[in-house]
Amino acid sequence: MTTPHLTLTNLNAGYGRAQVLFDINLTITTGTIACVMGRNGVGKTTLLNTIAGLITPTHGTITHNGTDITKQPPHTRIHGGIAYAPQGHETFAPLTVAQNLTLAHHATKRGPTHLIDHALDRFPRLKPLLNRRAGLLSGGQAQQLAIARALVAHPTLLILDEPTEGIQPSIVEEIETAITDIAAEGITVLLVEQYLDVALRLADTVTVLDAGRVIHSGDRADLTDTQAHTLMAI
Ligand SMILES: Nc1ncnc2c1ncn2[C@@H]1O[C@H](COP(=O)(O)OP(=O)(O)OP(=O)(O)O)[C@@H](O)[C@H]1O
Ligand SMILES: [Mg+2]
Repeated sequence: MTTPHLTLTNLNAGYGRAQVLFDINLTITTGTIACVMGRNGVGKTTLLNTIAGLITPTHGTITHNGTDITKQPPHTRIHGGIAYAPQGHETFAPLTVAQNLTLAHHATKRGPTHLIDHALDRFPRLKPLLNRRAGLLSGGQAQQLAIARALVAHPTLLILDEPTEGIQPSIVEEIETAITDIAAEGITVLLVEQYLDVALRLADTVTVLDAGRVIHSGDRADLTDTQAHTLMAI
């Protein structure tokens, strides 16, 4: 049986008077990888920010595990199991890798400390870098830290905004493997991914946005590569 983990109903959101998202409807099933795609500026990050609670929708509802979270502040959503690794692999630059992970763990007060080790097992490249300041990491290393930091919050829903953006292919492969393993553990993943091939390999469902509206949403298995290319070219 499939259980809805996250449901967006008739969601509108934007910045001030500039509406960016129009009537978004989306259901993500527990334990799946839901991929959101679309060209630059169509509203993908705005959508993720709205789900994380950083933007208040002007209309519509967000339901997480059966609870209406539309009016919950971001920290309540984090405690409820929603972790977010924003676009641009943000980390606390002056802190070391280890401090970044410990701080995230303390801040969220979710789950045992072995989650830090578990997150590092997902990204072994970080292990020799534990005492390095995050600001000195390469883009790929910082992205891995950003995802590891989200994982130590013990999420049931992990939101990733373009985790492969600007990253060399070998690291993209490692991140892709990590996402597959994270989902195999039962964590639901909501992923914004620009690289079509990566998205098509990872996704259980594909949602395509254009100008703030859903123009396609369905199972990955029902989409041929040609259809996917056509949708992304719109
Ligand atoms: N803080 C903001 N204030 C006003 N407008 C914004 C703000 N952030 C984004 N926008 C606008 O909202 C629209 C959607 O932006 P968003 O960042 O959600 O797109 P995106 O699909 O994530 O793009 P990209 O692929 O480049 O990351 C764009 O027109 C953008 O200029
Ligand atoms: Mg974006």
